[in-house]
Formats: sequence, C-alpha cells, structure tokens
Amino acid sequence: MANQIIKSQHSFLYVIFASIIAGMSGILFGYDTGVISGALIFLKKDFVINPNQEGIIVSILLFGAAIGALGVSKIADKVGRKKLLIITGVLFILGTYGLAKSSTINELYIYRFILGLSIGIASFAAPNYISEIAPSHLRGRLVSFFQLAIVIGILLTYIVNYYLATSTNPWREMFLYGTIPAIILLIGLFFMPDSPRWLLSQGKEEAAIKSLRKLRGNKFQNELEEIKATLNLEHNKSNWNELFNKKNLPIIAIAIIIMFFQQLSGINAIIYYAPKIFLYAGLGINNSFLSTILVGLVNLISTIIGLLLLDKLGRRPLMIGGSLLMAVALAMVALTFHENMSNVESMIGVGSILTYIFAFAISTGLFGWLIISEIFPLSVRGEGAAIGATANWIFNIMVSFSFPVLLNIFGINIIFAFFAVVCLISFWYCIKYLPETKGISLETIENHLLQGVKSRNLGVKE
Ligand code: BGC
Repeated sequence: MANQIIKSQHSFLYVIFASIIAGMSGILFGYDTGVISGALIFLKKDFVINPNQEGIIVSILLFGAAIGALGVSKIADKVGRKKLLIITGVLFILGTYGLAKSSTINELYIYRFILGLSIGIASFAAPNYISEIAPSHLRGRLVSFFQLAIVIGILLTYIVNYYLATSTNPWREMFLYGTIPAIILLIGLFFMPDSPRWLLSQGKEEAAIKSLRKLRGNKFQNELEEIKATLNLEHNKSNWNELFNKKNLPIIAIAIIIMFFQQLSGINAIIYYAPKIFLYAGLGINNSFLSTILVGLVNLISTIIGLLLLDKLGRRPLMIGGSLLMAVALAMVALTFHENMSNVESMIGVGSILTYIFAFAISTGLFGWLIISEIFPLSVRGEGAAIGATANWIFNIMVSFSFPVLLNIFGINIIFAFFAVVCLISFWYCIKYLPETKGISLETIENHLLQGVKSRNLGVKE
C-alpha cells in the first residue's frame, strides 16, 4: 500500500516536471516576442536602421512563427511531440545565440526568423504534448503552465529591459539571456517520456505502456484501453483531409474563433506597446516603464489566479465573465484616454488597463492555448492544434502591425472601443457555443464528436 502511494506520488511529480520543462518553451515565446521592444532602442545606436528595416526586424519573427506553426505540423505526427520540442530547443538556442552575436542587419533578420519558427512550432507542440501526458482532472492546469510560462517570459523581458538599459552592451545581453531557458528546455527534454497517445497511434504499444507507467504509476489500464478504443474508432490515418472532415468543422471553427477573440481583444496592442500608451497618457518615461512592469506583474498574478480557478469553476464561467469584464475595462479606456491626462484620469486609465489584463489572463489568455490542445480528435490533434496556433499568429500580426498606424489615423479611443466590441461579441459567443471541457477525458470529447454532438455539448458527461 505504502509502496503504491509512493509510486503514484512519484508519477504525479514526473507529470508536473514534464509539464514544466515543456512550459520552458512558453518562457521563450514570451521573452522573445517581448524583448525586441527594449532591444530596438539600442540596436538603433549600433546600426543605421530605417523604419522599413525596423518593421522587418519586429515582424519577421511573427511571420516565422506563423510559418513554423503551419509548416512543421506536417511532421508533428511522424516524429512525435517530444522530438518536435527537441528540434524547437535547438532552433531556440541557434536563434538567440545568433542574434546576440549578429553584426549585420541581414543576420538580425535571419536569426529573428529562426526564433519565430521555433516559437511557432513550440506554440502548438508544447500544449499538445502536455495535454496528452496529463491526467484529465489536471489537464487544464497543466496545459496552462504554457500560458503561465508565456507571461513569466513577458515579465522577464520588461524587467531585463528596464535593468539592462544602463549596461554597456544592452541589446546583445538582452538577447543572450534567452539562451538560458532554451538550454534548460533541451536538457530537460532528454528525461521526458513521449506522449503515450502518440506512441499508441504509431502502433508502439510497449513504449506507450512504459510511458504510461512512468506517468501514472500502476493505475493506467483503463486509460490505455480508452485510448486504444478511440484509435480503433478512428481507422483513418492522420492527414489534413481528415482534419477538414465535416464532423470536425465545428471544432476548427471554435479554435479559430477563440484565437480571433484572444488577439482582437487587443492584448498585444498593450503587451507590445504599453510604454507608448502610458507616455501618451502623460505618465512620463520612468512611470511609463514602471507601469509596464506592473502590467507584466498583474498578468502573471492573474494567470496564477485563473489557473487555480480553471479546473474548479470550469472554462465557460471564466470565459464568459472574463469577456464581459474585458469589454467594460476597454470601454473605460476608450472613454477616459486623451493626451495629457490629469493625475486622477491617468489613474483611472491605468486602472482600467490593469483590469483588462486581469480579465484577459483569467479567460482567453489561458483558454486559447488550452482549447486547441484538447478538442481535436487524436488522429488530427497535431494538425488541429497547428491550425489554431497559425490562426493565433496571423491575428497577432494583424493587430500588432496595424496598431501604430491606426493609432495615428483614428486615435486611441476609437481603437479601444473596437476592441471592447470584439469582447462583447466574444461574451455572446461563449454563452451560446462554447463547450465546457472541465474534467472530461480527451477520449470522451472525441466520442462526442464522432457521434455528431453539438459543439456546446461536446464536454457534457455521459
Ligand atoms: C497570447 C500572446 C500574448 C500573451 C499575453 C498569450 O496567450 O497568445 O499573444 O502576448 O498571451 O499574456
């Protein structure tokens, strides 16, 4: 008996450890997307960079991510999630180290693109991997380690940017720090098991049993049978045609729509341009940078709160409540922001932005990456998650690159009013269509899909 308990504690810790290691790629995601805002200021001192080149240096990473997410997914089911994460780790190290050592603008482009590729691959491989090794009652929390890691990465960038601003070689150091999580990811992965679901789908039953034994102790027989039964039901080989099979269309729509709401709620207008927004509100340089760190901190604390609530309250209440609160906070920003605000007005404005960050972090922030890893059937899970991740990057590019231009044309109020309307539509959509997948096994969700159950009821217990 005592032996049994020790074994199950052991396997529990092993699952946590594997999820943290895979989550390292989230830290790199947050760090490498955020670091450029600080690094650019100093790059401009060492290189002559015109506005076009500046745009390319920033955007080439996001394009790389979109390509990485879509292009590499083709091999996701062939090589498996773990090997894919190893490839990602190598690319991360190459990209960050190369950037830190770059001596021409072309080199900067190349390494930013390589980093983008690795972020794109990680953005579907890591949540996918975690959801397939996690026991269903912990899946939400463990997959959300990925989002937690993203926000830790973003906060680290804000802090590193603030402190390195006075160092002798700021941008090279800013990039170089990114190699640390990349090395931890790569070393850690060698001790990780491959996903038992993926191993079974490749007919490697012995390896799957070995992996399940490590992850679940001795209690894995039911899960093994459940996975096998689902694989038998599917028959089909994994491919893109199978993904676009009529029965999967509702869930493809959910994945893309949730990513649309996540990005078009304007999150990266704030995450990437926070100092600019605070300066606009008349906060002064120092206070703007400090408020930006506050944004990162609130994002982190709220993500932890969301994580604790996710598997207790469920996805629907968080998404519905979060969307409504985001809409209200964004409407407040739209109503109160103008140039050279008074102290009280600035406090209301900053307070509204922080409220929005809180609401985002407990809803679409957590849920976006979670949903793409849990609603697709096993035979097309890699492709499905890749579609969701690619949609996320494309919507991200749309907002991040149009924001500075639109800000000049329309002003901050109209843009934030638009984001508020998107969140209101998200509120309505979630009430009407979003499935509750709390505590439901991936196999149950899949059986419901095969039976043609409506998307709203995909997670209803039998
Ligand atoms: C989004 C990122 C965003 C981050 C902010 C993630 O879920 O995909 O685009 O920067 O959350 O916390």
